[in-house]
Amino acid sequence: MKKPVTAIIGAGQVGATAAQRLIEKNISNVVLFDIVEGLAEGKALDLMEAAPVEGHNREVKGTTRYEDIAGADVVVVTAGMPRKPGMSREDLLVLNAKIVKSVCENIKKFAPNSIVITVTNPLDIMTDLAAKLLGFPKSRVFGMAGVLDSARMRYFISLALGVEPHRVSSIVLGGHGDLMVPVTSQMLCDGKPVTLSEADRKAIIERTQNGGAEIVKLLKTGSAFYAPASSVAQMVDAVLNDKPAPLPVCAHCKGEYGVQDMYCGVVAKLGKEGIKEIIQLPLTPDEQRMLKESVEKVGAGIREVAAMAF
Ligand code: APR
Repeated sequence: MKKPVTAIIGAGQVGATAAQRLIEKNISNVVLFDIVEGLAEGKALDLMEAAPVEGHNREVKGTTRYEDIAGADVVVVTAGMPRKPGMSREDLLVLNAKIVKSVCENIKKFAPNSIVITVTNPLDIMTDLAAKLLGFPKSRVFGMAGVLDSARMRYFISLALGVEPHRVSSIVLGGHGDLMVPVTSQMLCDGKPVTLSEADRKAIIERTQNGGAEIVKLLKTGSAFYAPASSVAQMVDAVLNDKPAPLPVCAHCKGEYGVQDMYCGVVAKLGKEGIKEIIQLPLTPDEQRMLKESVEKVGAGIREVAAMAF
């Protein structure tokens, strides 16, 4: 039987760490691509030299040739640039839109039957752009943000409760930005509802919404990559192995939560054909209002990119 292959475009912090998670968790072989000569090859070789110690049988191949992604089951797009000093938000948007455009042209050419998972920020906008550029069925294009944001929220809840993080479940919906919606009405520990003080609940919402910025502030150069890479690996695993548990992902909505023909963070079942089903959660009026605001902000960003020449 053919071993599943995940192509990762961008061998930076998130891409290379995702490759590590995928091979070491025995989820798939990996083709790691970057435009920087030697970067993907060097990281792939380093990862393979760890194989005898880690004891896995997976392979990772580094490359600068797009032909090598041919036949990939899943393509993860992490290629992008971080914001540099003096760069406006719009400059970054144009720069990453250009990168996503060139990446999508090559995915279309070399891996036309793949499932595409976007990671490049601003996530919702880049996912919408990728879907339009690829022209694949929308169920085969979705973004990684909700698993990460929810994982951060789960960790913060576990700290408040003083329990192990894996015992907590919770969901974040909406755009992957400061208006994301941590759904505090549905926090669970060991499958049972969690009740927190109002101060703790508000603090968890705020820390979750600022989760990415908190890491950037600490690292000073660069942004989070361990938890993003774990989140990518969980999504790839769900796709390749038809895992039944729904995950929060940036998916194309067709009326769910009133969101029409737009990408947005929702909970969905994933499998070999991509998004199998979007599951709508009951939300409090407050959460519904937050979601509406978050969706409006994502919509404005999508319109901004649509109006740009790049
Ligand atoms: N094609 C392929 N790779 C590219 C391209 C391109 N056109 N342009 C840039 N890259 C590569 C860079 O060479 C770099 O190795 O993308 C990689 C990005 O890696 P990092 O700068 O380390 O960024 P990382 O922390 O991995 O984040 C990647 O994920 O979470 C998001 O906001 C984050 O958008 C960013 C993305």
